[in-house]
Amino acid sequence: MMKLSRILYFVLPCIFSWTIAKAQPARTWTVDASKLVADIQHTMWGIFFEDINFGADGGIYAELVKNRSFEFSSPLMGWTVKQKRFREGAVVVQNRQDAHTANPRYISVNVQQAAKGDLVLINDGFRGMGVKKDMRYFFSLLYNQPVTAQIQLHISLIDSTGNVLGDTIFIPALKDGNWHKQSASFLSHATCPKAKLRIDFVGDGYIGLDMVSLFPSDTWKGRPGGMRADMVQMLADLKPGFIRFPGGCIVEGRDLNNRYQWKKTIGPVEERQLIMNRWNVEFAHRSAPDYFQTFGLGFYEYFQLAEDIGASPLPILNCGMACQFNSAEVADMHQLDAYVQDALDLIEFANGDTTTTWGKVRASMGHPASFHLKMMGIGNENWGPQYLERLDVFTKAIKNKYPYIKLVNSSGTDPEGERFDFLNTALRKRNADLIDEHYYRRPEWFFANTGRYDHYPRNGSKVFAGEYAAHVNNATGPQDKSNWLAALAEAAFMTGMERNADVVQMASYAPLFAHAEGWQWAPDLIWTNNLSIYGTPSYYVQKLFSNNKGSKLLSINSSMGGTQGSDSLYASAVMDTASGELILKMVNASARQQDYNFVIQGIGKCKGGKLTVLQSGDLKTTNSFEQPFNLSPKESIISLQKKGLQYPAPPYSLSVMRIKYTRGS
Ligand code: AHR
Repeated sequence: MMKLSRILYFVLPCIFSWTIAKAQPARTWTVDASKLVADIQHTMWGIFFEDINFGADGGIYAELVKNRSFEFSSPLMGWTVKQKRFREGAVVVQNRQDAHTANPRYISVNVQQAAKGDLVLINDGFRGMGVKKDMRYFFSLLYNQPVTAQIQLHISLIDSTGNVLGDTIFIPALKDGNWHKQSASFLSHATCPKAKLRIDFVGDGYIGLDMVSLFPSDTWKGRPGGMRADMVQMLADLKPGFIRFPGGCIVEGRDLNNRYQWKKTIGPVEERQLIMNRWNVEFAHRSAPDYFQTFGLGFYEYFQLAEDIGASPLPILNCGMACQFNSAEVADMHQLDAYVQDALDLIEFANGDTTTTWGKVRASMGHPASFHLKMMGIGNENWGPQYLERLDVFTKAIKNKYPYIKLVNSSGTDPEGERFDFLNTALRKRNADLIDEHYYRRPEWFFANTGRYDHYPRNGSKVFAGEYAAHVNNATGPQDKSNWLAALAEAAFMTGMERNADVVQMASYAPLFAHAEGWQWAPDLIWTNNLSIYGTPSYYVQKLFSNNKGSKLLSINSSMGGTQGSDSLYASAVMDTASGELILKMVNASARQQDYNFVIQGIGKCKGGKLTVLQSGDLKTTNSFEQPFNLSPKESIISLQKKGLQYPAPPYSLSVMRIKYTRGS
């Protein structure tokens, strides 16, 4: 936490220096509030969600049991079986493939006059289970047992030394040899970041078990089987304009079998077919053999999340191509119909009324109203003529049936080079709605490219900066953590995007979440462990831009000539017509304070305002679990002159000013 004295050190001199007229250097930014350059789209600043770094399973999806359905490649991964006296066949992995293709495995347990401790199953959770004092936990499972069974399950949460944190006795009620779901709940009387679930089998006979599950009760909106509330809250606080899901490379899969198929992610969770998460094997140095996609967080939940946080949903679909860095498999053009049908059916699932096939499915899951889907991505980071060939088929079919759906097209993995130029040219000729550009680059690249969109065509295709992040050490490696240098570079670049909001209509940092013990790729926007969460400096940059999006773009010019980068200063200006405020954003990327005049034309007069500053003199500054708000925005009130203000931009800072004004001139 920043000390009060340090806050005052930065804030107080600022307040005084605006009110006391001093001789200013003649460096002036002029904002013309009468020139509305463009609309700022509701979608301007959004979020990119992918199940990478244990972002979904083991992350935002609050299930605490790992491998609950015994469908991981090793059926008992995550589970330990303990027997006081070993008996062959006491625990057996069963497969009923023909009858249950989506979830074939379960385990059978056989006990004979077992007492507590004779036969025990322990689940490790995802690098342990984060358990909170006085929190209620919901245990559930699917079971079947014959009429002869006399079995009790003693359920407990234990800490690393085996101490019981909370427990209950679970007596499976029905004995008819059929599958039944049953639940129980209990309180934990202590907090523990790495608890385990223990099940003792007591009694006699046979029982089949599947979908062994444990959820905390404090999920987002208290939804049973829902999401971690602290993680969703961090997203809601961003007030994102859109949420892109489910990725990322997991859309493509390592091969086509491993691709994301939305239809397999909806309906009852026990019928959602699990697959290996491609990040399980992607990086040898960060391998995660226990990383699978259970799809407990599936497309219905993604749409619901979007609705909850006021973001427009942006699903990205596989276009008949697997990741070109992996197998590079493509679907035969004669077999593309199923892929295209998936896209058409998804629109019906999201928007169709309840008499339609897929609208009915959505309603049966609890949401009869439309999810208001307006856009969709075809492919992620796909490139080459093979992409265009497939894209054309999708575009024709979708535009034909749903002309109102805007399509996001891929421009590959890099924002420059032959592949990019080839696709960018071809997509613009096709008048693509939105072209998805990705850039993971060093901070210097971001500073040098703040003018990237100044010379883009003003008409035709718009840009979706769908994945970007400044990587401090290595432009493509997974070793970085976001620090203030990276975040400042992103902020400078974002002023460039904002100044070109007529061209760049959507942007999202990537990746979003990382678990401290389970990550594969860094930097990331938000870090979690089993109990805590913090936003990186990049998170606060995203938040400041998104929370101060405005509705109209204004022109802003600097007396030093160019608008960006002179004296390491970068600025943009928007107006929020609803609140009647001008919003100025300024990045000072130099090591010294820089004094500026802001002259505001086209208004009556400035009435007052608020300043929010994100600042550190040390570019290595970052946040952590111990100091989550080490670098975070500080707010103060600003005094203004009649038509502008003098502003001493602190060294290495992002400043956002919201200025109330009267109309007139
Ligand atoms: O954000 C991490 C990965 O980077 C995404 O999955 C992919 O689209 C890109 O290569």
